[in-house]
Formats: sequence, C-alpha cells, structure tokens
Amino acid sequence: MVLVTGGAGYIGSHTCVALAAAGLQAIVLDNFSNSRRSVLDRVGAITGAAPVLLQGDVRDPACLSQVFAEHPIRAVIHFAALKAVGESVREPLRYYDNNVAGTVTLLRAMQAAGVRTLVFSSSATVYGEPATLPIREDFPLSATNPYGWTKLMMEQVLADVDAAEPDAWRIARLRYFNPVGAHESGLIGEDPQDIPNNLLPYVAQVAAGQRDCLSVYGDDYATADGTGVRDYIHVCDLADGHVAALRYLQAHPGVLTVNLGTGRPVSVLEMVSAFERASGRPVPYRIVPRRPGDVAQCWADPALAERLLGWKARHGVDRMCQDAWRWQDGVARSLG
Ligand code: NAD
Ligand code: WQD
Repeated sequence: MVLVTGGAGYIGSHTCVALAAAGLQAIVLDNFSNSRRSVLDRVGAITGAAPVLLQGDVRDPACLSQVFAEHPIRAVIHFAALKAVGESVREPLRYYDNNVAGTVTLLRAMQAAGVRTLVFSSSATVYGEPATLPIREDFPLSATNPYGWTKLMMEQVLADVDAAEPDAWRIARLRYFNPVGAHESGLIGEDPQDIPNNLLPYVAQVAAGQRDCLSVYGDDYATADGTGVRDYIHVCDLADGHVAALRYLQAHPGVLTVNLGTGRPVSVLEMVSAFERASGRPVPYRIVPRRPGDVAQCWADPALAERLLGWKARHGVDRMCQDAWRWQDGVARSLG
C-alpha cells in the first residue's frame, strides 16, 4: 500500500489514477486545505475503486502514527504542501510550518514505523534563474521566495536523513517543471479555489468566459517572442513519473534526484495559441509589466529520468490544452 499525502490535490489525484493503473493500492491523507473530498470519488469513477481516504494533517504526529499502525504502508508519496509563491512571501511562517515542519513530522513517523521509501514533490523553482539551458540536475540551486526555500530546505532534510542512515532510505526528489492538463476523462483536473496564479488555469478560465482577458507578464524577455518560456508537462505524464520512481527505488537505496519535464521550451504566446486551437475559443490578452520574481526561461534536460527510470513525457502542448479544456468546460458547465 502506498500512502499519498495531499492525494486529493491536483497532482496527487492524477497520481492515484496512475498507481491504480500500475496495480498499486493508494491510501490518501489530506487535510483538504486546497482540495475537496469529492475528488476521490471521481478518481474511483476512473479506476473502478476509490482510494482509502483519511482526513488529517501531516503535521499531526498522532494522526500519522495511527495511519502507519493501521495500514500496511510500504512507501509514501508526499505531495502535501502549500504552493502559492506570492502567498508564501506574505505568510512565510505558514509555509515553513506546513511544508518543512510537515515533512519533518512525516519523516519521523516513517522512521518510527520502519517505512523508508519516499517520493518527494520538489520543483524546478530550486534552480532559480538558470545560467544556461536546458537545466540539468547538477546545476546550482537557489531560491527567491519562501515557497522555493521550503523546497530547497526539504531537499536538504532528505539528503541529511539519508546520510545519517546510509542505505536505509530510498528517496526520490522529483523536480517538476510546469504541470498542466487534466485526465482525459475530464473528471479530475486543476481546481484553483481563487484567482489562478498559474498560466494555464487562467487561460482556461478566459476561454470559458469566466474571465475577460489574460495579462501576459512581459513581452520584453530575451526569448523568441519576448514572453516567458517554460517546460509544460502533462499532469498524467508527471503522475506516471511517480510510479517509475517507486519502481526504481525498489532496486536502488539512497537518494534519486531527477527532473520531470519534457525538454521542450514553450512561450506564453505559444501556449495561448495552442489553447485557442484546442478550445476553439478566443483567448484575449494584453501585455502588462513583468511579474516580479519570474525567470525568463526554464526548461529541463529530462535525459537522466529517461536513463534511470525509463520514463519519458509522452504528451505535447496540444494534448495538454485539449485535456485542460475538457476539464475546464465541464467545470464551467457544472457552475452553470
Ligand atoms: P495541490 O494544492 O492541488 O495539492 C496539495 C494537496 O495537499 C492538497 O489537496 C492540500 O489540501 C493538501 N495539503 C496541504 N497541506 C497539507 C497538510 N499539512 N496535511 C495534509 N494535506 C495537506 O497542489 P499540487 O499542484 O497537486 O502540488 C502537489 C505538490 O507538488 C506540492 O508539494 C507542490 O509544491 C509540488 N509542485 C507543484 C507544482 C505545480 O505547479 N502544481 C510544481 C512543482 C511542484
Ligand atoms: C508561467 C509563465 C508567467 C500567469 C510557478 C511557480 C513554481 C511552480 C509552478 C510549484 C510565466 C506567465 C502566468 C499569467 C502570464 N510551482 N504568466 N500570465 O511562474 O513558471 O512557476 O508555478 O513549484 O514554483 O513559480 O508558472 O504558470 O505562474 O507562469 O503571463 O496570468 O506564464 O510570467 O512566464 P511559473 P506560471
């Protein structure tokens, strides 16, 4: 059984589907601070059986020890975290507490229960502004905001835990690039509770008529069309990467650190065009000043993940946008 913290969230719910497809049973622990309980019913509608669902917080040691005592957990995939960059600047203590303290509490509970296999959600944000592209795992690391610092700190905690008990732990630090899209069923997807911070959910809401116009943050970057360039990865490819990492860890103790990206750079305006094609709807936009803290370009060298895990992203931006639109269209309809 695999414990999935934050399994009701965006990436977690898609990973529950991937685990089921791989014949692995998931048990989800989520405090629903950024998700809804009903997501797991929709995961069940896709897979045939909803994962076991426990409401609880990774910062609660009593809750964790009960979870490990009552269920035959062999490995943990740890998604539970707060992830809004701007909010982390305004409320740093909340982020350090939820993300860093939460991870330490989880690791203590794992150690006590003798469970030492962990797949951890890291982020390309740990590379800061890269000096060259594409980004390899051995590039220098830095952070420009508290959210990024929590990821860097947690990566360090994991390295230290491994160093203290060599060959005991099996840890994957997966550095995600920009996850987008949704499951092809249209039943699960990204469900921002507020005004979306990220590009694709915002574009999708503009296409659906829920918002008037996209603000494009700067067209004066040193990129082909002047807008920011990212490595967007289909969330189902990303989810499969977790199953591949679990398989790898079965045979390899120690710490694995890999990028999960496509290796394909895409600009904001290219993404807008792809979404217009996929949805058949216009996405009006206006150029506004750069967003503070944004890097100009960020894309992965995904070769290490392919070599070590045998994993490679399969879907391109058109498919990402088609699946995001199917989900968005369903959400928009259900809202009337
Ligand atoms: P999400 O907010 O949709 O999912 C996170 C889930 O964790 C939510 O269901 C939330 O309710 C839960 N949660 C948060 N704090 C918790 C706690 N203390 N105890 C129990 N549950 C808790 O976010 P996501 O996009 O699915 O991201 C998952 C992970 O991937 C996070 O660690 C995030 O930092 C990381 N990540 C996300 C992105 C991205 O762009 N979405 C990129 C890189 C890394
Ligand atoms: C993508 C591009 C924007 C919104 C963030 C976090 C990162 C990671 C993923 C978790 C950029 C542009 C965006 C909009 C725009 N999260 N944009 N108008 O900034 O690469 O990464 O989310 O780890 O830590 O920083 O993703 O989707 O916000 O932006 O023009 O309304 O779209 O400037 O070029 P980003 P994003």
